[in-house]
Amino acid sequence: MDAILVRGGRPLNGQIPIAGAKNACLTLMPATLLSEEPLTLTNAPRLSDIRTMTQLLQSLGAEVTSLQEGRVISMSSHGAINTRADYDIVRKMRASNLVLGPLLAREGHAEVSLPGGCAIGARPMDIHTDGLGLMGAQIDLRDGYLYAKAVGGRLKGAVIDFPFASVGATENIMMAATLAKGTTVINNAAREPEIVDLADCLRRMGAQIDGDGTASITIQGVDRLGAATHPVVADRIELGTYMLAPAICGGEVELLGGRINLISAFCEKLDAAGIDVTETDKGLKVKRRTARASAVDVTTAPFPGFPTDLQAQMMALLCTASGTSVLEETIFENRFMHAPELIRMGAKIEVHGGKASVTGVERLKGAPVMATDLRASVSLILAGLAAEGETKVSRVYHLDRGYEHVVEKLSTVGADIERVTDQ
Ligand code: EPZ
Repeated sequence: MDAILVRGGRPLNGQIPIAGAKNACLTLMPATLLSEEPLTLTNAPRLSDIRTMTQLLQSLGAEVTSLQEGRVISMSSHGAINTRADYDIVRKMRASNLVLGPLLAREGHAEVSLPGGCAIGARPMDIHTDGLGLMGAQIDLRDGYLYAKAVGGRLKGAVIDFPFASVGATENIMMAATLAKGTTVINNAAREPEIVDLADCLRRMGAQIDGDGTASITIQGVDRLGAATHPVVADRIELGTYMLAPAICGGEVELLGGRINLISAFCEKLDAAGIDVTETDKGLKVKRRTARASAVDVTTAPFPGFPTDLQAQMMALLCTASGTSVLEETIFENRFMHAPELIRMGAKIEVHGGKASVTGVERLKGAPVMATDLRASVSLILAGLAAEGETKVSRVYHLDRGYEHVVEKLSTVGADIERVTDQ
């Protein structure tokens, strides 16, 4: 397994390009199942999760071709479709469950393995299955698989009130509703930019969708969808992650393709912590105002609140800030696994249930640490960039799921970082 070595203490200066969003691409790709016509995605990120989704769609009979070194994904699912999403692929990535809605809408039935456990939480699918049930799907759980069938052969429109603004459930139901008979309304829908990006793509394919980006989305079902080419929206989580690099190290970095409206709640917290964020014609420029960031309290929430996917990275900054911050994680039940690793680097963190109290220290100390999940792994790299001495982050396969070319991107702005093969 590979590891990443970081030698900290250098200010960072220069530009970092932001790639297309992993969490948009992972819901845009299953949309190919909704049409017999081609779907082409541009500005696609090159990540192992995208390769996993490619494998899954190919196992269902879709043609998926990666062009221009992975930047373009050309897909087509004309002809026979296999409706069984096997456990051995689904268990690798929870987002595999996003084929459930499209398969049901297209074929009237689907057999999708439950994703299984995940480091950050149980992550059940009750909101997905209850919503599809209201649309006329009969769903049974047997031997670890969801066996779903549209009663009468075709889903029908319904009014669905979500108990929680689930991102994946909003995506599954929205895709299923595009081909249902009648109108579907999703209330308390997720409002993330990736939801709007999916709606934009589906409209390009001929779907009739309104209200995406608000808490109430209306989808008027149609009989068939057509071809489309769609650019994947910029990755707001990668953006926020790299914005924290100059915040924690000093210097000034411009994030190419970044836009404040993708992460305004995060930018407000950076401002409160003493970090300047300026919009330029190419993206966002980030610079720390003083020699040390200031403590701020953070509570994660569904969009437009502070993103849970930036909580671990923000904790790394707050470990070096002056004062004590309280981080509250409200989305997942086990998303502080980076805390013990940061403590190994000299951080002062106390975790009580969903809250972590962080008292900043002048300097973190480099140490061997272990990545436990995707966002925790990059939080440890950020801490290593600011620490005295060398930090070795092992199990970086977590990182490869959601960040392309981390070493290259950080090296170009002056970081002392390299990837090595771990014994
Ligand atoms: C998406 O996951 C993202 N993944 C996650 O990013 C992100 O953290 C999450 O949304 C929240 O923003 C992708 O888009 C591929 P949810 P998703 O359904 O759809 C509970 C990353 O690091 N819940 O909004 O699974 C669930 O257990 C990943 O890129 C139910 O209880 O998130 C969780 O506690 C991590 N029942 C909360 O809701 C359900 O049926 C949020 O889940 C569905 C969800």
